[in-house]
Amino acid sequence: MSITFCGLELVHPIINASGTFDAIAARRAFGDQLLERFPFSAFVSKTVTVSPRQGNPPPRLWELPAGLMNSIGLPNKGLDGYLAHDLPQLAQLPVPLIVNVMGFSRDEVAQLVSAFAERPEVAALELNVSCPNVETGTVMGADPSEVARLLDAVRPLTDKPLIVKLTPNASDVPAVARAAERSGASAVSLINTIRGMALDPQTGEPWLGGQTGGVSGPAARAIALAQVHSVAAAVSIPVIGMGGVQSGRDAADLSRAGATLVAVGTESFRDPSAGARIASEMRLRSGEQPYSGGRLTGSLNPPQSTETPCKTSQ
Ligand code: FUM
Repeated sequence: MSITFCGLELVHPIINASGTFDAIAARRAFGDQLLERFPFSAFVSKTVTVSPRQGNPPPRLWELPAGLMNSIGLPNKGLDGYLAHDLPQLAQLPVPLIVNVMGFSRDEVAQLVSAFAERPEVAALELNVSCPNVETGTVMGADPSEVARLLDAVRPLTDKPLIVKLTPNASDVPAVARAAERSGASAVSLINTIRGMALDPQTGEPWLGGQTGGVSGPAARAIALAQVHSVAAAVSIPVIGMGGVQSGRDAADLSRAGATLVAVGTESFRDPSAGARIASEMRLRSGEQPYSGGRLTGSLNPPQSTETPCKTSQ
């Protein structure tokens, strides 16, 4: 079941969706068994921006009958903080590291790509042009010509694989994928979350601090399947499919729809070993021995962080 993706040798086709598995917190919670039984075949980091960000005001989550809506708003330590604090820890993971980056302008994306181009710990970059939770988050990703301009600017800056994370909140997703491919993207990943809203039952006002949020989990699965199917038919570069994957069958469906890799997101919040379990279920479905990764055991509630909160400008 091992697989080659953009030149990376992966032990199975299941990775995590950016921002849905905090490997640094998981290491604190599970200790070194996390390294011995890492649930994913590659690790995709939470989005890094040039400047530190506090993220959106609370509340940030709303549970849905079949999933979750989040309005997190890309909190992170910023490029310098990530390089100093997160990268050395993520570099210890036993799988290739894919860093997800987001810029509020082409120049910012170029700054991020250039910084990571020099880092041997980083195997590939994912360009987040699809966050529904920050102003301008999907401006680049919804428009094929904007995506082309972005890739034209950043493709020459690195030889590392560049994966473009597509938004489902666009009128013609295959057209955006084709534009990314034409301008040198190595792969595309989809779907990011679908914009949604919940109202506070007491006040009738929007519940989420960011007003709207992104819907993920089983509620997104059929939409993901349709979009992966249409994008995979439109491009020749590899596709990473995600959206509501909970089982080997869901992953196998996305792979039948044309995905080379499948990412697990919301399911990891209730089962941190979901990646390994789903990889095993996929193997069993194809008559192979289950993946030997095993389950993580121990507390799901990590001890309090001793890190000082990052200084933010937003
Ligand atoms: O709000 C967030 O941090 C989510 C980011 C995304 O969906 O790309």
